[in-house]
Amino acid sequence: MKECRIEIPLKVYTYEELSETDRTIVDQAKQMTYQSYSPYSHFSVGAAALLNNGVTVTGSNQENAAYPSGLCAERTTLFYAQAQYPDAAIEVLAIAARNESGEFAEQPVSPCGACRQVMLESQTRGGIPMRILLYGSKFTYELEKVEDLLPLCFTAKDMEPSSH
Ligand code: THU
Repeated sequence: MKECRIEIPLKVYTYEELSETDRTIVDQAKQMTYQSYSPYSHFSVGAAALLNNGVTVTGSNQENAAYPSGLCAERTTLFYAQAQYPDAAIEVLAIAARNESGEFAEQPVSPCGACRQVMLESQTRGGIPMRILLYGSKFTYELEKVEDLLPLCFTAKDMEPSSH
């Protein structure tokens, strides 16, 4: 038996410490929370993706009376980006959320497992690391790449026959 440890590099910034580019993309994600359709959870999530063609694509969570039919802000944004710009890679994805009180959460927003998996495939498609900014009103987390949000992740590669 061998005990191993997985370490994840995580940078923690106050809003003021973010670069101008990152502040802009975070602001776009924050702004998108006001366009969330979340009459059931009252949890408003916004996302903004900066593509390597210079375009920024934004989205918000979209709910439905048939609950599972809704979609998170991250997937709304990533699928729209891929539908509109199939050849572009995503350089940065920023996410922000406001709770029922209307306030931005103090702690950085934490994407759900399904969104992490979709982020991973978007990153693989794009072929470059997708930086992730998780906004919180007290501090923002920066992750260098999607794998840092999804250790021991499953990709299409795992389905290939092993070479031995
Ligand atoms: N939600 C997101 O949009 N992104 C996340 O990372 C977590 C959850 C949405 C889904 C649902 O509309 C609401 O937040 C409550 O779960």
